[in-house]
Amino acid sequence: MAQEKWTAVDRYITNTLLPADPVLDDVLKASDAAGLPPHNVSPNQGKLLMLLALIHKANNILEIGTLGGYSTIWLARALPENGRLITLESNPQHAEFARKNIARAGLTNIVEVRIGKAVDTLPKLTNEDCNPFDLIFIDADKPSNPEYLSWALKLSRKGTVIVADNVVRDGAVIKANSKDPKVQGVRRFNQMLGSEPRVTASAIQTVGIKGYDGFAIALVTDDYFS
Ligand code: SAH
Ligand code: DHB
Ligand code: MG
Repeated sequence: MAQEKWTAVDRYITNTLLPADPVLDDVLKASDAAGLPPHNVSPNQGKLLMLLALIHKANNILEIGTLGGYSTIWLARALPENGRLITLESNPQHAEFARKNIARAGLTNIVEVRIGKAVDTLPKLTNEDCNPFDLIFIDADKPSNPEYLSWALKLSRKGTVIVADNVVRDGAVIKANSKDPKVQGVRRFNQMLGSEPRVTASAIQTVGIKGYDGFAIALVTDDYFS
């Protein structure tokens, strides 16, 4: 019952606030047809990500977890012509599919999809002039979230915004003894955000077509020196 209502209200929000978007609608249809897991953010969540990047006047964005490039396209649309988005994806099929979608969205010049496990591709970014990033979106394998937060901090500056998806997991996040490695990854991640002196953070529960989950948002308040 609750899910039906959340879905109907998400439809209402999308119909009311999001103009028709043939490119992104096609990405979702094609993702479904290609058998990708339905783990993309919802349209209104995607637009929220774009708004955060616009409000922050982000020029360079890092995304961990590309899938079909749905959230990637939303985020990249916030960037100026000389902006840049790097997105990390371990599954070569997802990456190839995302590249097609990003091309269809006219964002190939702005977006770079890097294939490999993020724990392998993240360290390389530290040696490149693409960092520090203005905004980092963490949305890949949840057990690795604590490592992703450590790398995100290394790739940040004072003022960087870090956003993470799926930090509530249908409420399972409060189960301290959960055997689910995704829940434990998210719990450790949230705990790190709460105890890290260089960030100030909050999280909100979200309901909608994607069920019951949550976003965490953090602002880096100090430059990283170690
Ligand atoms: N951000 C996307 C959804 C990402 S789903 C959106 O909202 O549209 C999570 C993605 O992370 C999947 O494509 C999965 O293949 C990828 N992934 C899983 N483990 C990974 C790893 N170790 N490194 C990089 N990507 C990984
Ligand atoms: C999962 C991952 C996601 O990024 C998401 O939005 C929903 C579910 C998952 O791995 O279970
Ligand atoms: Mg997600």
